[in-house]
Amino acid sequence: MADALNDTLRTLLDTYVADTFVQEDDVLQWVQSEAARHELPAISVRGFEGRLLQMLVYISGAKQIVEIGTLAGYSGVWLARALPAGGRLYTLEKSSKHAAVARATFERAGLNRKVELLEGDAMTSLNQLAPRNPFDMVFIDADRPHYHDYLNWAAENLRPGGLVAAHNAFRSGRVLAPENEDDRFVAAFNAALAKDTRFEAFVMAIGDGLSVGVRR
Ligand SMILES: C[S@@+](CC[C@H](N)C(=O)[O-])C[C@H]1O[C@@H](n2cnc3c(N)ncnc32)[C@H](O)[C@@H]1O
Repeated sequence: MADALNDTLRTLLDTYVADTFVQEDDVLQWVQSEAARHELPAISVRGFEGRLLQMLVYISGAKQIVEIGTLAGYSGVWLARALPAGGRLYTLEKSSKHAAVARATFERAGLNRKVELLEGDAMTSLNQLAPRNPFDMVFIDADRPHYHDYLNWAAENLRPGGLVAAHNAFRSGRVLAPENEDDRFVAAFNAALAKDTRFEAFVMAIGDGLSVGVRR
């Protein structure tokens, strides 16, 4: 399934979109090379998905964002750069190795004042963040088995009109015919979000798909 998708017109269009609308500067390139140098898994969003996240920040006017899954901070740089003055990105990471690379990223990007990295299990960090609600946007990009818990947290802590977005909605096409547990979790998550009366929901069919819900 994944191989078939790689050769489709959509993949060619993804490349066209990236070439036309996405400029990855030195800092973003540096983040990816640092991630590789520290042997972090190559599972970040792609450049045009980062740009899509930025567009969601601009369109929604988000000022307080929560990201679940920091890795080396690549998507975090895209998100934080779109924040207005005084805006804040809370990014959650359980791996101390990944968190250390991400801290260097935010320093290098000059984003330390806009980004707070919470190291530890995401659910614990979310519980700590809840008193600071309402949030404007929650980006879920880690720990598929708990996507439902993160969605519930988002429903309880987003302002009306706030966004929840979940990466890898298509699982490289395997959402059509799940092959592993994570594929099944994401397929179930998409189905649940689509029916969730707390959100207006849709999937943005760009890259590996971004499931998006707007809090009612
Ligand atoms: C897909 S990567 C995030 C990629 C990042 N958003 C980007 O695009 O640059 C997922 C990250 O979530 C972290 N993670 C996994 N389970 C977690 C949990 N329960 N709590 C916090 N972080 C977790 C992993 O260590 C990994 O760094």
